[in-house]
Amino acid sequence: MKRALVLASLVLIVLAAGTAAFTQSFSVQLGLNRGPTQPINFSHKIHAGQLGMNCLYCHYGAEKSPIANLPPVSTCMGCHKIAAADKPEIQKLSGYFQRGEQVPWVEVYWLPDHVKFNHKRHVRAGIECQSCHGPVQEMAAVYQYPSLKMGWCVSCHRQKLDDPVHPATMDCVVCHH
Ligand code: HEC
Ligand code: HEC
Ligand code: HEC
Ligand code: HEC
Ligand code: HEC
Repeated sequence: MKRALVLASLVLIVLAAGTAAFTQSFSVQLGLNRGPTQPINFSHKIHAGQLGMNCLYCHYGAEKSPIANLPPVSTCMGCHKIAAADKPEIQKLSGYFQRGEQVPWVEVYWLPDHVKFNHKRHVRAGIECQSCHGPVQEMAAVYQYPSLKMGWCVSCHRQKLDDPVHPATMDCVVCHH
């Protein structure tokens, strides 16, 4: 009897997780989840999706440092001095470039100060950007995909505790200051 109950609740958990994942990917497709309105209407769907640009072309810090940088305007202007130069959003972009200003992008991801996170370690361990950030190449405006709660970090760390090459950890002080 007990065993049947355990089994039944496992099935429920799996079903619930499946439904959540389905709903989530469905709403990505429909564009229901939207990030904040940005100063320039930049689309990952165009750049990382249609144009197939590598994430590291713009976020090159992600494999070299704890922080994944946002690209400076000069990275954009490499193409947009010419590409779509007549479009209003690109004229806004050139305006920042000519004034020597950076675009004041609105932050999407954020962890509290007591948590340590390091991109380089995760990216070099072979974890894809999408495992944490979702299908960014389909997002017109990037939004926070995972919960960013402790349980989210820990559930992956638990799975990778015995990884022969890149073991993760459950040690409190490794993640907390
Ligand atoms: C052409 C440059 C470019 C490429 C290529 C690119 N990004 Fe971005 N990314 C940006 C810019 C600009 C922003 C800030 C505006 C925004 O949030 O949309 C950003 C924001 C983000 C954010 C949110 C950052 C925050 O504020 O917390 C994530 C996560 C992200 N990108 C992941 C990715 C991933 C994953 C890929 C590859 C699938 C990728 N990006 C490809 C330029 C790029
Ligand atoms: C590798 C070249 C390349 C880079 C680098 C690049 N873009 Fe683009 N971008 C394009 C192309 C190509 C298009 C599609 C133009 C079209 O539809 O005619 C585009 C489209 C756009 C559009 C839509 C323009 C419109 O209204 O039709 C915006 C806005 C934009 N890019 C902003 C940016 C920003 C901001 C960056 C830097 C973070 C950036 N791009 C980096 C090539 C690039
Ligand atoms: C193991 C999960 C994980 C992976 C893999 C990962 N990220 Fe992140 N990313 C995060 C978390 C967590 C944050 C929030 C960090 C913070 O606020 O301190 C973040 C923040 C960002 C930001 C905002 C700037 C920053 O560093 O706070 C960008 C841009 C970004 N990630 C891009 C990428 C790209 C591109 C890749 C792949 C090359 C990638 N991330 C891989 C978890 C991940
Ligand atoms: C998809 C799996 C995954 C997720 C999600 C994940 N991690 Fe990790 N993490 C790993 C793996 C694998 C390693 C071991 C990497 C290595 O040894 O090179 C690691 C290592 C670490 C380390 C030790 C390396 C260092 O940077 O000092 C810290 C700290 C860490 N993770 C924090 C976090 C935090 C905080 C989160 C959530 C915001 C998180 N991780 C989410 C897989 C993950
Ligand atoms: C893999 C990384 C990771 C490990 C390991 C980890 N934590 Fe956390 N912890 C986090 C993150 C991320 C948050 C922020 C969650 C949030 O803001 O909701 C957090 C939040 C907390 C908080 C604040 C309360 C809350 O829910 O916001 C406490 C207290 C805490 N952790 C204690 C611990 C203790 C004790 C351990 C060891 C048993 C531990 N943590 C191990 C990542 C980790």
